[in-house]
Amino acid sequence: MKENVKEILLTKEQIDARVEEMGAQITREYADKNVVVIVLLKGAAWFATDLTRAIDLPLRTEFMVASSYGDGTSTSGKVNVRLDLSESIEGKDVLLVDDIIDSGVTFAAISAMLMERKPASLKTVALCDKVERRVNGMQADYVGFVIPDEFVVGYGLDYAGDYRNLPYIGVLDPAVYSKA
Ligand code: IMP
Ligand code: MG
Repeated sequence: MKENVKEILLTKEQIDARVEEMGAQITREYADKNVVVIVLLKGAAWFATDLTRAIDLPLRTEFMVASSYGDGTSTSGKVNVRLDLSESIEGKDVLLVDDIIDSGVTFAAISAMLMERKPASLKTVALCDKVERRVNGMQADYVGFVIPDEFVVGYGLDYAGDYRNLPYIGVLDPAVYSKA
């Protein structure tokens, strides 16, 4: 498993420190708001559980399963919602959280869908951002780390369902997916 990670990009310590900073920033900027954190499963679960505990405000947490990826390493362009919210977000200040923004298709599609439900505000949060890969004008409002265009795994990020439990974020050896 670990032998397929060719390089550690972000250590657990770097991730923890950055997540604390992001939580502190959100705490300052969302004081007195009606915060609902929407976690895009599965990948964002690891980041979101740490991030929400770094936000010192009352908030509610919702989960969505949306997928555009198969088992490959690039987007199919379409987003399917397989698990939707359990509560209305009308009038709420929503933070949509994903592990990584890549093409931007997921955030663009889910944001558009959520805006129809009339939240008071909607902002996006991504731990990692592969800016070079964007196919649309989508920008995340809160970004943990801008990373190079390489396929990464760990801290929730997977390749074909594997590697999510690595405590760091590492670059997957391209040999793993080129032979798949
Ligand atoms: P987007 O819709 O292309 O922005 O892709 C966002 C989704 O693609 C994320 O939620 C991830 O599931 C997946 N993804 C993009 N890049 C990577 C990567 O390097 N490693 C693992 N998953 C990735
Ligand atoms: Mg994902």
